[in-house]
Amino acid sequence: MAMDAVRVLVTGAAGQIGYALVPMIARGMMLGPDQPVMLHMLDIPAAAEALNGVKMELIDAAFPLLKGVVATTDVVEACTGVNIAVMVGGFPRKEGMERKDVMSKNVSIYKAQASALELHAAPGCKVLVVANPANTNALILKEFAPSIPEKNITCLTRLDHNRALGQISEKLNAHVSSVKNVIIWGNHSSTQYPDVNHATVTTRNGEKPVRELVANDEWLNKQFITTVQQRGAAIIKARKLSSALSAASSGCDHIRDWVLGTPKGAWVSMGVYSDGSYGIPAGIVYSFPVTCKNGEWSIVQGLKIDEFSRVKMDATANELVEEKSLAYSCLN
Ligand SMILES: NC(=O)c1ccc[n+]([C@@H]2O[C@H](COP(=O)([O-])OP(=O)(O)OC[C@H]3O[C@@H](n4cnc5c(N)ncnc54)[C@H](O)[C@@H]3O)[C@@H](O)[C@H]2O)c1
Repeated sequence: MAMDAVRVLVTGAAGQIGYALVPMIARGMMLGPDQPVMLHMLDIPAAAEALNGVKMELIDAAFPLLKGVVATTDVVEACTGVNIAVMVGGFPRKEGMERKDVMSKNVSIYKAQASALELHAAPGCKVLVVANPANTNALILKEFAPSIPEKNITCLTRLDHNRALGQISEKLNAHVSSVKNVIIWGNHSSTQYPDVNHATVTTRNGEKPVRELVANDEWLNKQFITTVQQRGAAIIKARKLSSALSAASSGCDHIRDWVLGTPKGAWVSMGVYSDGSYGIPAGIVYSFPVTCKNGEWSIVQGLKIDEFSRVKMDATANELVEEKSLAYSCLN
């Protein structure tokens, strides 16, 4: 029997991540090779012409799974009936702008889009916020869409997770698919804590801890962490543009694992609404290790946290608490 199309919203679809992301979705990289999709693309009026160009290219690519495209600058039209919402649109920080000004712009965007999703999205819609400040934008979206279950609102830290896998893979000259169970704790910002204490590599002699194989705690505790934390800035320096293909690909990984489940014995990192696990304050969107089954994520419990990790996990939590109060001050 033919499967019904899943409606996927991409906001900011005329931007660079959007341009990389929509063909991935239309090729089945997000929801699987048999799942038809309807793309809903939203951007602002100033980008309407470029958005229409993206729509033309999607038609020209003749994707077998793509059952239709809505390209609009109307948030209600964009949100109507969507099952998955990938929120990439946002206000970037421009030279000379204060942090509070950028926060204020994004708070008002995410407040308005939360209301549109709450009123018009399909029941059970799953939301992934990509636009920065991603954790706090997701928190605002949650606050202003109270009828969307908080478990359905997440933010992207999978790019940081994949970057951590990539660094370990390069260091050990092992294929990236043999590395698993790194963790990104906290904020999608330079305070995030990439943790390898529970990570393993599958070798010819079975699964081995990353710490044992790398055998260089100095590198793991310093250079590895700063490389992952600063990778976004390194990409901007090299490309003169921020990461787009890796962000789009990680966004597909995030939704795919959430909807279709994480592989047995593996976890991934997702920014989710904290329930107080690991002593992280409840009420912020914080990146945790999660497993997914039947379309639901759950935080991996019971991992041993050493003193080094504790300090770093708390520092990134503190930044999120501070971002939350800045965001709230913009609401008044
Ligand atoms: N979480 C992550 O891992 C991660 C990684 C990379 C980039 N990002 C963030 O993703 C966002 C998008 O990055 P990009 O490189 O595609 O930026 P971009 O500037 O190329 O595209 C952003 C698009 O959003 C649109 N937009 C602005 N306001 C909007 C609104 N109210 N509604 C709908 N669309 C709107 C813009 O017109 C533009 O087309 C940025 O905030 C960036 O910082 C996050």
